[in-house]
Amino acid sequence: MAAAAAEVPNRRVILKRYVTGFPSEDDMEAVAGATHLVVAPGSTAVVLKNLYLSCDPYMRGRMSKHERPSYVPDIVPGEVIVGFGVSKVVASGHPDLKVGDLVWGLTGWEEYTLVPDARSLFKISHSEMPLSYYTGVLGMPGLTAYVGLCEVAKAKKGDSVFVSAASGAVGQIAGQLAKLTGCYVVGSAGSDEKVNLLKTKFGFDDGFNYKKEQDLNAALRRYFPEGIDIYFENVGGAMLDAALLNMRVHGRIAMCGMISEYNLEQPQGARNLSSLIVKRVRMEGFVVSDYFGEYRRFEEDMVGYLKGGKIAYIEDVAEGLEKAPVALIGLFTGRNVGKQLVAVARE
Ligand SMILES: NC(=O)c1ccc[n+]([C@@H]2O[C@H](COP(=O)([O-])OP(=O)(O)OC[C@H]3O[C@@H](n4cnc5c(N)ncnc54)[C@H](OP(=O)(O)O)[C@@H]3O)[C@@H](O)[C@H]2O)c1
Repeated sequence: MAAAAAEVPNRRVILKRYVTGFPSEDDMEAVAGATHLVVAPGSTAVVLKNLYLSCDPYMRGRMSKHERPSYVPDIVPGEVIVGFGVSKVVASGHPDLKVGDLVWGLTGWEEYTLVPDARSLFKISHSEMPLSYYTGVLGMPGLTAYVGLCEVAKAKKGDSVFVSAASGAVGQIAGQLAKLTGCYVVGSAGSDEKVNLLKTKFGFDDGFNYKKEQDLNAALRRYFPEGIDIYFENVGGAMLDAALLNMRVHGRIAMCGMISEYNLEQPQGARNLSSLIVKRVRMEGFVVSDYFGEYRRFEEDMVGYLKGGKIAYIEDVAEGLEKAPVALIGLFTGRNVGKQLVAVARE
C-alpha cells in the first residue's frame, strides 16, 4: 500500500487558547508532528508542502471564540492555525492538480498540509515570478487592493485618494493602482521610514506619519484642501472619523479593514457618520473572497504591471515556521515593513 511510503516529520503551529485582547506569542505554540505524504484512494484531496505562509490581520478574528459565526470559522485551540500560503503539491487525488504543481490558497501553519477540498486553491500560472509574491501582490492582498479600488471605490482619473496603512500589503498596491488610474494619492503610515517608502518607492504624491499628528482632521485637511473622493479604509478608529469629516460630495469609502479595532473587546465606533448624508458619501464594506472569480484577470494584469515596472513591491520575510507567531503579532504594532510573510521552505 502506498501509505507505507513515508511518514515524515511535520512541525506545526497550533493555537493554544482563544485570544482575548492583544495577541501574544504564548497564544500559539510550535509543536512536533508527523504525517504521511499520501491521499486516501479515491479521494480528491491533496497534500501540500508549504513554502511560504501569509500573515494577515483577519487571522486575529479567527483566534477568538464567536457566539455567532463570522464570515470565516474560528480556529479551535489545539488545532493548527489556518491561513493563506504558497505550496507545492506532493500528493494528489484531484483531477486538476498533479504532483509538482505550485498553488496558493488556504493551508495550515505547518510543513505539510492535507487539504480535503482543493477548491480553496489557485494554481500558480506564473512560476517565473518570485513565488512569495503569491502571498501578497499576486495573491489575496493584491486582489483586495484591485477590487477595493476599482470595483468598490470605482476609482477614476482625477480622483483624490487617501489610503491608510498605506505601506502594508494591501495599502502599497491600492495606492499604486490609484496612481496608475491617474489619481492624486496620499497615504498614512506609522513611521517616517514607511512614509519615505510611500513617496520614494511607491510613487504616492504625499504621505504622513499619523503617529506624529496631534489632529488627524487637520492633517487630512492639509493634504486634501478640496476634500477626499476615495478613502481606502484599512484602519478604522480615529482615522475613519477624521476621513469622514474630509470627504467630498459623492465620495466613496471602501471599507477594507479596521485593524485598530481588531484587539478591542468593544468596538470604538465612528462618530462622524452624518457626513455620509451631508456629503452623499457611499461607504461600502467588501470581502475579497466574493471576488475570487476575478482572480485570473487580476493575476494577468498584475503580472504585467510588475514585469513592466509599473508596480513596486516590498515584503517583510520572517525565516522559519517558528517565527510565524511573532510575525503575525507584529502586524498589530506596525512592526512589518511591507507584506509580512513567513518562509517555511524554499524551492
Ligand atoms: N476586506 C478584505 O477582504 C480584506 C482583505 C485583506 C486585508 N484586509 C484588511 O486590510 C487591512 C490591511 O491589511 P494588510 O494585510 O495590508 O496589513 P498590513 O498593512 O501589511 O499590516 C498591518 C498594518 O496596520 C497598521 N496598524 C496596526 N495597528 C494599527 C492601529 N492600531 N492603528 C492604525 N494602524 C495600525 C500597521 O501599519 P502602520 O505602521 O502604518 O501603523 C501595520 O503594519 C487590514 O485591516 C486587513 O484586515 C481586508
